[in-house]
Amino acid sequence: MELLTYKSSNIEEIKQLFTTVFSDSEGHTEGALIGNLTYSVMTGTDAQDLYGFVATENEQIIGSIFFTRLTFQNGVNAFLLSPVAIHTSYQGKGIGQKLINFGINHLKKNGVRIVFTYGDPDFYSKVGFNLITEKIAKAPLKLTQPEGWLGQSLISDEIEPIAGNSCCVEAFNKPEYW
Ligand SMILES: CC(C)(COP(=O)(O)OP(=O)(O)OC[C@H]1O[C@@H](n2cnc3c(N)ncnc32)[C@H](O)[C@@H]1OP(=O)(O)O)[C@@H](O)C(=O)NCCC(=O)NCCS
Repeated sequence: MELLTYKSSNIEEIKQLFTTVFSDSEGHTEGALIGNLTYSVMTGTDAQDLYGFVATENEQIIGSIFFTRLTFQNGVNAFLLSPVAIHTSYQGKGIGQKLINFGINHLKKNGVRIVFTYGDPDFYSKVGFNLITEKIAKAPLKLTQPEGWLGQSLISDEIEPIAGNSCCVEAFNKPEYW
């Protein structure tokens, strides 16, 4: 298994991976939604606001993850982890955690100070995320599940509270993703 930065030549294969993985886990409607979301993340986000990585096996993409910029008024260098998927037949083997840690280390080396995500606290706590409230940092849109709002500081033990609203990239600026 290899972990790499994604290339623009991978876009169709990555869209297909997300569509298939989320169709398998949550049905075709969700699969199509997340496949299209990932496509618009890759094609509609400025390069300085995006990091993407893949896990490969025999040159096939078996996992992928994206981080997009979350902008706060104080200018802190912060990103949102979403989405991430591991091919259904490769799940539960530790690849997801390796891919997430690989991505986070890359962001840390590039000066990113905070990473947020929105998901299952039981899983994301394995890779350094803690539950946070919107008193610490506001989510960009209204959260339907505030108990899934998670964050980690890459520079200290905890996130210092950040004043003001946050703003996500265009691909995530839709209520159905929150
Ligand atoms: C969630 C996901 C990225 C985790 O990657 P993975 O390689 O399967 O996970 P790892 O093997 O590194 O980690 C194992 C842990 O993840 C959790 N986990 C494993 N498979 C899971 C699944 N299908 N769904 C949710 N959590 C899962 C378990 O808590 C497990 O912990 P344990 O080994 O102590 O029981 C992957 O299972 C996946 O793509 N799932 C479907 C899509 C999804 O839910 N993506 C995340 C939301 S954007």
